Amino acid sequence: MSGPDYSFAIKDFFDKDLERRLNLPTEESSGLPNVAYTSEAFFRFEQGTVFRKNWVFAAFAHQIPQPGDMLPVDIAGQPVVIVRDEDENVRAFHNVCRHRGAKLIDEPQQGRKSLVCPNHSWSYSLQGKLIARPHFFGGEKHDINHQACHRSDLVEIRGSVWHDWIFINIDGHAAKFNEHIAFIETRIQGYDFSALGFAEKLEFDIDANWKLTIENFIEPYHVFSCHPWLNSFVGMEQRTPPDFHEHILYCGYQFEKTDPARGEGLPYFPGLSKDRQKRGDWYVLFPNFAFEIFPDQVDVFIASPESAKRTKETIALYFIGDGTHAPEFEQARRHVIKNWYDLNQEDIGIIERMQAGRASDGFDGGVLSPYWDPVQQQFARLIVRAMR
Ligand code: FES
Ligand SMILES: [Fe+2]
Repeated sequence: MSGPDYSFAIKDFFDKDLERRLNLPTEESSGLPNVAYTSEAFFRFEQGTVFRKNWVFAAFAHQIPQPGDMLPVDIAGQPVVIVRDEDENVRAFHNVCRHRGAKLIDEPQQGRKSLVCPNHSWSYSLQGKLIARPHFFGGEKHDINHQACHRSDLVEIRGSVWHDWIFINIDGHAAKFNEHIAFIETRIQGYDFSALGFAEKLEFDIDANWKLTIENFIEPYHVFSCHPWLNSFVGMEQRTPPDFHEHILYCGYQFEKTDPARGEGLPYFPGLSKDRQKRGDWYVLFPNFAFEIFPDQVDVFIASPESAKRTKETIALYFIGDGTHAPEFEQARRHVIKNWYDLNQEDIGIIERMQAGRASDGFDGGVLSPYWDPVQQQFARLIVRAMR
């Protein structure tokens, strides 16, 4: 992955009029121009703005269950290490040594007592404090006196854990995390997330810009055309357009029948209200974290940007209580997991087709449906705002 680039300004990519156009009524507006999906320079600028200023998903808490577990990740084009410390708190640090800037950790680690730099063996505690600098004052003259080390601790990154999901904010200036998710928290009241268990992860390599996967995730407009099974489950006339609240995009439906592909036979959230036993909702937490809630599952979608035209998509599937691992639910689980895999394959084809179209002089932002696409306009506005 290429690193962030702070040398650009928004005017290097977008004409002056774009912001005005994005605020017009949807039918006169458009999405983002092609450069936002095709240019590597734009990609690096976006990494340094959108992904640095916002709360961004970094890792699953279940990946570092024990004290001393560590996970290296790349966020906003920067090396980051997520650590579970002795007190079981999750911490995030810039994954770089304070001495000569060597990257510290390349592979996930389990049960370590410290982080040791491979270059000159400076060591850091799980809280990021410098422990020792061998031979620092000359041969056999080690620095084990922390007083001299105040400029030498690891640089910590603001982090927050929400259920199984670790978010970080690299520039440290985003709103408080609980404010960031307050709107969603209100809407999902009544779903007991403590009953969730992680069951399976699906990963996909997509030849498209990450924004196309998120834009596709939130829109129900393509269902009748691209997802035959899904359309038979809930038809277009039962669907309403997505809505948004600032950086949160959302949509949902009531369904009339159950189906094995949608979790028939799996346990439901405990104490779930009657209407929610026949309801699905999905959310995008800008920029690239999304999830769906059904009575029997929560499914998380993360679009990890790898380059302007390449995205790794991760789908993590969670079920309720015994639904997560118990053998009697194995078949029901497999059915759901296969359905997610198949639906996503249907989406990937169309996402890559939209990427291919963005090489064309015949497209530059498009013409939007006033009914279905106001959310696409909002997503474009959020990108532009973060880049200012
Ligand atoms: S670069 Fe890490 S100890 Fe020198
Ligand atoms: Fe889709």
